[in-house]
Amino acid sequence: FMADKGNHRHFMAKEIHEQPEVVGRTLAHYVNFSAGRVELPFELPFDFKDLKRISISACGTAYLAGLVSKYWFERLARIPVEIDVASEFRYREAPLEPGELALFVSQSGETADTLASLRYAAAEKLHTLSVVNVPTSTMARESAVVAQTLAGVEVGVASTKAFTCQLTVLLSLAIAAGRARGTLSAEEEKELVDALIAVPGQMSEAMKREHDIEILARELSKAKDVLYLGRGTAYPLAMEGALKLKEISYIHAEGYAAGELKHGPIALIDETMPVIVIAPFDHIFEKTVSNMQEVAARGGRIILITDEKGALETGLDTLATIVMPSVHPVVAPILNSVPIQLLAYHTAVFMGKDVDQPRNLAKSVTVE
Ligand code: G6P
Repeated sequence: FMADKGNHRHFMAKEIHEQPEVVGRTLAHYVNFSAGRVELPFELPFDFKDLKRISISACGTAYLAGLVSKYWFERLARIPVEIDVASEFRYREAPLEPGELALFVSQSGETADTLASLRYAAAEKLHTLSVVNVPTSTMARESAVVAQTLAGVEVGVASTKAFTCQLTVLLSLAIAAGRARGTLSAEEEKELVDALIAVPGQMSEAMKREHDIEILARELSKAKDVLYLGRGTAYPLAMEGALKLKEISYIHAEGYAAGELKHGPIALIDETMPVIVIAPFDHIFEKTVSNMQEVAARGGRIILITDEKGALETGLDTLATIVMPSVHPVVAPILNSVPIQLLAYHTAVFMGKDVDQPRNLAKSVTVE
């Protein structure tokens, strides 16, 4: 195929900026905008009502999309979710029951460990559903149900637009599951669908923070280590932020559940280690604020990613606050992907790194 960068310096920048469009396109595939309902574009060979559990496996960024969706499936549809990286799932001999659902997430549909996990689950007679971006891929061919992400070709090794499209599809599935299981009323479904429909526009709004983020990236480029913190769905996002940064800038970064701060990472905090906190104004916002106070009390420099309400409420001195548009807390991880991607991208570009082809990494890991 031929892909070009358009007006962008790198594919990664182009793919970050494409997100309002491709998330919108993916959404249009799963959602009836006028009815305010999720309408899945495929038949399911099982009923969400009958599921006792979902087992998710994936690798890398796709795994972190899966981890966000665990919060959604459990909260919105009250289905217990187990999730593991595919390289563990395939060997750990988890007790599985025929008729359960095994869910896989993969941009390429060719990742060796994820494909092996899919074959393993199918052999155990589980229903298989794969969220994939490449419709002609091996995983798409071998899954009972294919939930396609419509991100288009992703060239940058570090996944960006595929991730937010995966989140969009996974949230649509969780809403459909909630409806089937009677845990979401039609009214609640409409509220969530309206929140999803607003996301592409809010992503465009979030892109307007790019210049500020670029300036902040210069600060970040001086760091040897960076800590990312978040609670709830912001926790997998903290891990995704750290993964992006380490992949393309080679700065050591870790993502932690904010509540685990006291169980280790607090020992590392000093004025040289930036702490990036992702904290939308939600039911656990106050808890994250108290973790930030612990960081601040030890001289840590905080970069806070929050929304308009959150920015007013913290009352904390931060190195910088990136203010996102206010959104429904359920969709916040989709929107907050934008600033963490831009931060990693601009840090790596400022450091002169090859962001589209980082050393030692492959776009698709097809060998174990
Ligand atoms: C590699 C890529 C990542 C990707 C992961 C899983 O590590 O560099 O960007 O998230 O593989 O790939 P998949 O194609 O299965 O989503």
